[in-house]
Amino acid sequence: MPNKKELYDLFVSVVQAAKRVPNRPALLVKLASDLSYEERKDVADVIMKKECKVDGLIISNTTVFKPDSLSCEKEALVTGGLSGKPLKTMSTQMVADMYQLTNGMPIIGK
Ligand SMILES: Cc1cc2nc3c(=O)[nH]c(=O)nc-3n(C[C@H](O)[C@H](O)[C@H](O)COP(=O)(O)O)c2cc1C
Repeated sequence: MPNKKELYDLFVSVVQAAKRVPNRPALLVKLASDLSYEERKDVADVIMKKECKVDGLIISNTTVFKPDSLSCEKEALVTGGLSGKPLKTMSTQMVADMYQLTNGMPIIGK
């Protein structure tokens, strides 16, 4: 994950560019639930700044974390991200964390 300064620079560029698009659609940021709590705080701090403010978040992308609950050896060995049930607890926690850290920014999730 980029550091906070890199995140800031990225969001400033994207948000300022988006402002120049006429009738632009909502600008949403999709996050992975693999972010640590510190990283969640960094993202929240940055996207709440006026010059970096996005319209909302999508939570979440797949996880590369492999929970112990994966009973099927084949699933546990998959190198790509996991979606669906193994992700549910993590993504639900991420929705709660980001809602709190952003003081209620709109979130698309499940
Ligand atoms: C095969 C597959 C391909 C995906 N491709 C993308 C992608 O190109 N871009 C993206 O932002 N998310 C992608 N995702 C993530 C999904 O959009 C979704 O965020 C993730 O699967 C978690 O939701 P779910 O548990 O409902 O599947 C992909 C997921 C899967 C399983």
